[in-house]
Amino acid sequence: MPQPDNKLRIPETLRNVKSIIGIFSAKGGVGKSAISLQLALALKEKGLKIGLVDADIYGPSQPVMLNSSPGELKLTKNEIIEPLTKEGIKFISMGLISGEKMPVIWRGPMVSGAVMQLLSQTEWGELDYLIVDTPPGTGDVQLTLLQRIPLTSAVVVTTPQKVSISDCKKGIEMINKLDVPISGLIENMSWFQPDSMEKKYYLFGKDGGKELAKEYSLELLAQLPLVELDEDSDLQNHELLKKEFDKISTKLMDSVKNLKDKRSGGIPQINITK
Ligand SMILES: Nc1ncnc2c1ncn2[C@@H]1O[C@H](COP(=O)(O)OP(=O)(O)OP(=O)(O)O)[C@@H](O)[C@H]1O
Ligand SMILES: [Mg+2]
Repeated sequence: MPQPDNKLRIPETLRNVKSIIGIFSAKGGVGKSAISLQLALALKEKGLKIGLVDADIYGPSQPVMLNSSPGELKLTKNEIIEPLTKEGIKFISMGLISGEKMPVIWRGPMVSGAVMQLLSQTEWGELDYLIVDTPPGTGDVQLTLLQRIPLTSAVVVTTPQKVSISDCKKGIEMINKLDVPISGLIENMSWFQPDSMEKKYYLFGKDGGKELAKEYSLELLAQLPLVELDEDSDLQNHELLKKEFDKISTKLMDSVKNLKDKRSGGIPQINITK
C-alpha cells in the first residue's frame, strides 16, 4: 500500500534515526512508561544508540524515573533542543519543557502540535532506536504520532484485565487502520509471586494479553509479573525484569529487521537493459 505523503516528510532532526518505536496502550497505568524506559535501557545494553521521548503532556513520568529537571535543558542557536543524556540514553520529555523557558514549544495551539514540535525540534543526531512513550488513549496525540511520525513499528502494552483488553483492542484497531506495523504485545502485571512462595497470584485475571495477541495475530513479546519494590530499588534494576527485557529487545530487533527486509523487498526493481 502506498504510504501517505505526510509520512514521507520526515523532520530534519529525525533523519539519522534508524528506527522509531511507539509504545502504545489505550488504557492508562498499564506500564507503558516503565516498559519504554526498560526497553530503551535493554537496547542500550546491546551497544545500540538509543533515544527516549516522553510524549505524555498531561502526566509525564520519565523525568522522575530518570531523575531530571527542566533546568538541565539547553537550546542550540536555532532553537533546537539538545536532549539530556541519562543512563546512556538521549532523553526528552514534555515534563522538561516549562512554558517560561521554552516558549517556542508552545506556539502550537494543540497538544498534538506540541508533541510533534517536541519530537521534531530535538537534535537527536544518530540513533539506532528512538522509543516514544505515548500517553494513554486513542485521541489526537496518538493519531498525530501514528500519522505524522515515520514509526517503524508499534509495541502494544496491556494488563490481563478485561477493561484493559477492551481498550487495547481500540488501540490495536487504530494502529492497524493507520497501517503502522505492530512488532508485538507485552502483557504486564500478569501475576504476583511473593519471593518465598511457589504460588502465582493472577491479580488481574490470567492470559488476557496472550489471548488478545492470538486474536490479532500479534507476537506475544512477554508476560511480565507485577514485582515488589522496596524503597531503594526501582523497576529498571529488577533482575528478573532485566532478563525479560533482554529477551524482549532481541525480539523487537528481529521484528524490525524483518519489517525492513520486507519493505526493501517491496520496492519495485527496475531492470535496465541496454
Ligand atoms: N511489572 C511491574 N511491577 C510492578 N510495578 C509496575 C510494573 N509495571 C509498572 N509498574 C508500576 O505501575 C505504575 C504505572 O506504570 P506506568 O506509569 O509505567 O504506566 P503508564 O501506562 O505509563 O501510565 P499512564 O497511562 O498514566 O502514562 C508505576 O508506578 C510503575 O512503576
Ligand atoms: Mg506513562
